[in-house]
Amino acid sequence: MNSLVEKYPQVQDTRVILVDNDPTVRKRMVEHLRQQGFQVFTCADTDTAKKKIKQEDFDLLVTEMHLPNESGIELIRWVRRIFDTSYRRFMPLPCVMITGFAHIFETQDLSDLHLAECLIKPLDESELTEAILVALGIKEPESDERDKVEDLKQNFKPHTREYCKILLSDMHNQPNLVLDIYVQLSSEKFVRIAKRGDKLNEIQFHRFMDKGIQFLYVKKDDFRDILALNMRLSKAVTSASNIELIKKQKFLAKTGELILENAFVNGINQETFDNAKEYLCNSIATLMQQDDTFDLLQVLNDHNNSLYAHSLGVSIYSVMIAQKMGWSSGTNLFKLSFGALMHDIGKKDFDPELIEKPKSNLTFAEKELLETHPERGREVLSSLKAVPSEVLAIAHEHHENHIGQGYPRRLKSSRISPMARIVNVADEFCYFAIKNPDYPDADAGKAIYMLNQYKENLLDPDALAALRMIVEESKKMKKGA
Ligand SMILES: [Fe+2]
Ligand SMILES: [Fe+2]
Repeated sequence: MNSLVEKYPQVQDTRVILVDNDPTVRKRMVEHLRQQGFQVFTCADTDTAKKKIKQEDFDLLVTEMHLPNESGIELIRWVRRIFDTSYRRFMPLPCVMITGFAHIFETQDLSDLHLAECLIKPLDESELTEAILVALGIKEPESDERDKVEDLKQNFKPHTREYCKILLSDMHNQPNLVLDIYVQLSSEKFVRIAKRGDKLNEIQFHRFMDKGIQFLYVKKDDFRDILALNMRLSKAVTSASNIELIKKQKFLAKTGELILENAFVNGINQETFDNAKEYLCNSIATLMQQDDTFDLLQVLNDHNNSLYAHSLGVSIYSVMIAQKMGWSSGTNLFKLSFGALMHDIGKKDFDPELIEKPKSNLTFAEKELLETHPERGREVLSSLKAVPSEVLAIAHEHHENHIGQGYPRRLKSSRISPMARIVNVADEFCYFAIKNPDYPDADAGKAIYMLNQYKENLLDPDALAALRMIVEESKKMKKGA
């Protein structure tokens, strides 16, 4: 008797149906699961799987997402339907989905499926067993993901835990990369060949093809982060049930893409960024619950990419700065993140071309018109129900400055709301740090240089000091890594 069966005798009575069209993967998974004591039945496509599920009882479905005729998502939707309507079935069938890098953005579809687990290829066997035990309710999920990773790291060679394989062909014609990409030099050695935000160019691509390279690699943790972000946004969007599905999906796709491709700035520590991103996701989730605030998000989303990407970025960096300054109240951080997301909403009625125009090319009249946006923003937001006064202040005061020369009211620094002062710093930082037509090579270090050089006396000194610290620490962590 093997050790898993000794520990969990019910494993022997567990009937697993496994759907994967790759015979090698199927064979490997079946051998492993049978060794563990499970009863395993396999199918290569969804039609055969459906027939089997209709005829026999199973305790668990494990399916690859990408299948030839119909996706694993469709199969699980079908399972959900028949288990809801069939008189002879009372218990829902738990489902585990397996997916690879190429289908990462399809995971936005997963939140309504109530999956027990979602695994990333290539799998290691212990991960599969663990997911199955959790899905069946035989075992509690690990409480601390990091401990689990640490434990596993002890038992496996580093590369088997840290990197996911992706097909080189999946990288072809990808828009800007959402992850750092590595090539494998030896069984233990990986080298980064492209950074997040880059595009793998044709020459590189063909050089790899010529060398017979079939796979590239991404860090598993990065992959999980993206998956988690997509799932999280997806949940927020789909739970706001009064909004049309198609609107939600459009909104979701663009938001996820923009956060990942634009708002992340080279030179900022990933963990610091992720933490602030959580607040943004929470704010979005909350704002989606009300029609009027969702409509505003939609307006930003539909206006033009750079205004929306800028708003997402300013929200994330405002929270980072505030946390560095020692702010810890969840309510305040939420208001700050909400206000920063909406700080430029007063630009919503402007022609996108005017917003895109470099500052130096604006006519006097255009400049005057643009400078009405803080007042307009305050008006738009105050017409909504229950918008906190701090959020109105952010929209109204984020272009006031430390020497009392800002617009629209030339407020003295002590009279500017503390949240607006932070948003002002984040706003200037994002202008220089997030890639845009004026600054295609933007990064955090260059942005700090520009702020020191041209804006130092205009910005709130505490917020600027906090921002410098964030960039400095990120630099040190990078060197130490
Ligand atoms: Fe603004
Ligand atoms: Fe702005």
